[in-house]
Amino acid sequence: MNAEPCTYVIFGATGNLSRIKLMPALYHLDCAERLPDGTKIVAMGRRPWDQQKWLDEVRDMIVSKVKSEFDEDVFKRFSERLYYHQGDIGQVECYSDLAKLLGDRDNFSRNMAFYLSISPADFGRVMERLSDNHLFDEDEGWRRVIIEKPFGYDLDSAQALQKRISRYLTEEQIYRIDHYLGKGMVQNVLVFRFANVMLEPLWNRNYIDHIQITHSEELGIEGRGDYYNGSGALRDMLQSHLLQLLTLVTMEPPATMEAESLRDEKVKVLKSIRPIPKEAVHSHAFRGQYAQGHIKGEKVKSYLQEDNIPENSITETYASMKLYIDNWRWRGVPMYMRTGKRMAKSQSTISICFRHPPLQFFRDTELHCMNQNWILMGIQPDECIRIEMTVKEPGLEMKTRTSSLDASFRNHDEKAIDAYEDLLLDVLKGDRSLFLRFDEVEHAWRVVDPILQTWANERDYVVTYPAGSWGPEDSRLFEKSAQSWRSSLTPECK
Ligand code: BG6
Repeated sequence: MNAEPCTYVIFGATGNLSRIKLMPALYHLDCAERLPDGTKIVAMGRRPWDQQKWLDEVRDMIVSKVKSEFDEDVFKRFSERLYYHQGDIGQVECYSDLAKLLGDRDNFSRNMAFYLSISPADFGRVMERLSDNHLFDEDEGWRRVIIEKPFGYDLDSAQALQKRISRYLTEEQIYRIDHYLGKGMVQNVLVFRFANVMLEPLWNRNYIDHIQITHSEELGIEGRGDYYNGSGALRDMLQSHLLQLLTLVTMEPPATMEAESLRDEKVKVLKSIRPIPKEAVHSHAFRGQYAQGHIKGEKVKSYLQEDNIPENSITETYASMKLYIDNWRWRGVPMYMRTGKRMAKSQSTISICFRHPPLQFFRDTELHCMNQNWILMGIQPDECIRIEMTVKEPGLEMKTRTSSLDASFRNHDEKAIDAYEDLLLDVLKGDRSLFLRFDEVEHAWRVVDPILQTWANERDYVVTYPAGSWGPEDSRLFEKSAQSWRSSLTPECK
């Protein structure tokens, strides 16, 4: 698919996401000469800035991100694409003024992408007004809308939001972002699984003991108290990013890599997840909240001491859960997922643990270390795929150790690409494979809804864990005592 020239209109352009991710990603795309001629970027913001002030701001955003790689010539070309349009999204004139500006055919392509980097509570209203001003009409060019998570707050609210926005847009016009799908290593999961014939025969309940997905962060809530306290770790990470990772690891090979085939397979996985009955929530899910502790030797506050957090908040900053996918491939294989803020280390990993080989053969030997095989996929910060095998130690004795085969996809001199670069370019190409279809979001809510409802009713107590630790003691989730969280990408000898 070819990228077509487009007018990117960014709502919330002066906010954090735009500063840290969107503007640097668009600049990088321009550096790589991937922004088609005629592509313009209109920033919508409330602040009373003029064009020059906006250009200075964007320069700062980019310099602070790319540092010494800042290229004055590229920035000159990039700045010619930039416009600042002041407006308050709560006012009707904001939209008629925007429609007037974009009506200038000599300056702005008829293909338009509206990026709503705004509070989800405003999605419906902003779309309604854009629609009233005919900005979604596709008479001359395409019109696409990109929305960030969270899509709804639970199943009911997600369905209500969908009902509302489908009055203004067709499903083909909606690009629901889950930025995890834009990460290079996440896309590599599909290549690793489906381009290597050796894996497929092993990728099922006959050989795999269990699967773990961990996303841990050293950071706390970083000034996002208002949002986070109403969300919590289960909604913020698990319902979205981690369930998406799970679908990629467990889905059937899609017929093609086209958007609909891929998304059909992901939905099948979500639909096959065994519903968690309310009375079983405690054996399937666990929550915790960080107390004071130390990160990299520095003392850090507890969650309750963070700004804008009510003193009696029971919002979870750690959530873990166990799921079963009741299909032919996975029936009976536990899938464990966990995520937390203020944990011992920042990392995202997928760890696949294989069953034990029959040990009978080694019965009368001195084997000390007989680990299971693991496939470890580091999503970030280390991007790697490692396959752990047991090998004989050199020497006269029959002893073994674990050796790790490295199938990493990026060499040290190859640059990492930010997820947003890929995703913003896909919008220009009209490629929706890395964006979520509504039924994916809906089924993901169905998976976590019973947990959310149970936790919402149990408001008197939440377990805490010291900041800088691996979270609360939640080993009751594990099916067998031999299973436990794996936090390391290097061999662990038990
Ligand atoms: C966001 C969450 O969607 O993802 C944040 O709202 C979280 O709380 C972030 O920190 C993690 O993304 P990444 O790309 O930094 O792993």
